[in-house]
Amino acid sequence: MYVLGIESTCDETAAAVVQNGRKILSNVVSSQIDLHREYGGVVPELACRRHVDVLLPVIEQALYEANATLQQIDLIAVAHGPGLIGAVLLGLSAAKALSLGTGIPFVGVNHIEAHLYASLMQEESPAFPCLGVVLSGGHTHLVKVEEVGQYALIGQTVDDAVGEAFDKAAQMMGLPYPGGPVIEKLAAKGNPARFTFKAGNIKDKPFDFSFSGLKTALLYTIQNMTNKDRSKLTAEDKADLAAAFQKTAFDCIISKSVKATKSLGCSDILLGGGVTNNLTLRHLFQEAAPELRCWWPPKGLSLDNAAMIAGLGYHQFKTKGTGDAMDLEPVLKLGMVTQASSK
Ligand code: KG4
Ligand code: ZN
Repeated sequence: MYVLGIESTCDETAAAVVQNGRKILSNVVSSQIDLHREYGGVVPELACRRHVDVLLPVIEQALYEANATLQQIDLIAVAHGPGLIGAVLLGLSAAKALSLGTGIPFVGVNHIEAHLYASLMQEESPAFPCLGVVLSGGHTHLVKVEEVGQYALIGQTVDDAVGEAFDKAAQMMGLPYPGGPVIEKLAAKGNPARFTFKAGNIKDKPFDFSFSGLKTALLYTIQNMTNKDRSKLTAEDKADLAAAFQKTAFDCIISKSVKATKSLGCSDILLGGGVTNNLTLRHLFQEAAPELRCWWPPKGLSLDNAAMIAGLGYHQFKTKGTGDAMDLEPVLKLGMVTQASSK
């Protein structure tokens, strides 16, 4: 079964062709980073305009690279949120129009869920139930994954998502967007012990996150060091700040994830989202809990992409046996979530 995946929830326009939920025949991503860099973050209106310009060429490119025609596609899978609402609607409308024009069924796929599914697109599979950890620019979630499609919320951020915190931290240091990869690179040369930061804990919610205090601590440290002129930061200062910031954020995520996994009696952790591209994070997780098995997205599937959308779309279609109706609406959060006890 050939599935055409479409992704346009934020600042990447992507299309992919995936066979039987796993075999990636093409995975085309048109990134808008250059467009948004001068603003230090994603500008929704500009993102939408760029999606309009490139969506159809990106779909054509994905078909071309997969050596497939539209007639060979059995299913169209589209990310219908969560994300920037205008951007989501563009991909969703394109998928509906393609479906209407060709008679190919379509399914709407949850973007957060697809980030976790990305780590299942490999030969071996984790033991279910397992802990799911979503670390992206828009979301920071701990969920119990009973099986694909069945999630119970264990914890989430009460303010910034971790990727967003990296992006804002980079902006404070005068570094370009997106901040995550730049901070990772700088942190490799820095001394994390030079500064002591803390990530937030939420009363009675041991698996919730808060990164806004960490961000503010970074801001005040920079202001104190430079008398509010961040151009005075030296390369060494930036590296040390990046290292301390990254270590604080990751130590918090790792310790909560490991505790949550053990409290659920699970042995496997399924991770997804742009921040999982960070190799230091992968290394630290392994170091902190060698007895647990971590499942990371394969190459090219950490950041936003349409292969994970096509993969999960295949799974959904197989389970439900039918596509979605033309009145399918965008989703605002991870679906099929029930509140689990977080003791
Ligand atoms: O999953 P993603 O592509 O988009 C969303 O669904 O949000 O994640 C993008 C986020 C950005 O905030 C970016 O700074 C972060 O992932 N990111 C990283 C790294 N690469 C991307 N954060 C830390 N280290 C990285 N190497
Ligand atoms: Zn994403």
